Amino acid sequence: MAVSALSSRLLLLGLNAARVTCAHLGRPGCVFSNARGVSSGRALRTEERVTVRFIDRDGKRISVNTITGVSLLNIVVDQNLDFEGFGACEGTLACSTCHLIFEEKIYNKLLNETTVADEEMDMLDLAYGLTDTSRLGCQVCVTKDLDGMVVRVPEAVSDARKTSDKDSAS
Ligand code: FES
Repeated sequence: MAVSALSSRLLLLGLNAARVTCAHLGRPGCVFSNARGVSSGRALRTEERVTVRFIDRDGKRISVNTITGVSLLNIVVDQNLDFEGFGACEGTLACSTCHLIFEEKIYNKLLNETTVADEEMDMLDLAYGLTDTSRLGCQVCVTKDLDGMVVRVPEAVSDARKTSDKDSAS
């Protein structure tokens, strides 16, 4: 599907295709393959409507209706969710500010679908409040299997780019 045709469909669904990206090449279910919004050239699956429930830093639950094939980062951006500092590097795997904490069953489901790339693991090591079920929101794309999942935004955010700036200055 051409990007413009996809844009039209997403706009009908109230989503902005320009922001529908996924940083990690080849992630199953992602509409696009990189942060610049370049089409992967793979045939798109038929998207289906799903619900994602976020728990923000204040413990407030936010339910979002979206479609399969978009990353959690894109959902946060497209829905204007007010998670301060979230997604600072726009999905280029450079900041770790898109750190999210998953329910164990969902985390395991994600692991069954795909392995966590070394680059994501490296960035997760720099995330604030890392848990056993942490992932980066820019690397997780929504599939039908994940419908209704709950993801928690950590209490604080840590931007790996700023940490490395400090390290190199000292
Ligand atoms: S948005 Fe920066 S690593 Fe995900």
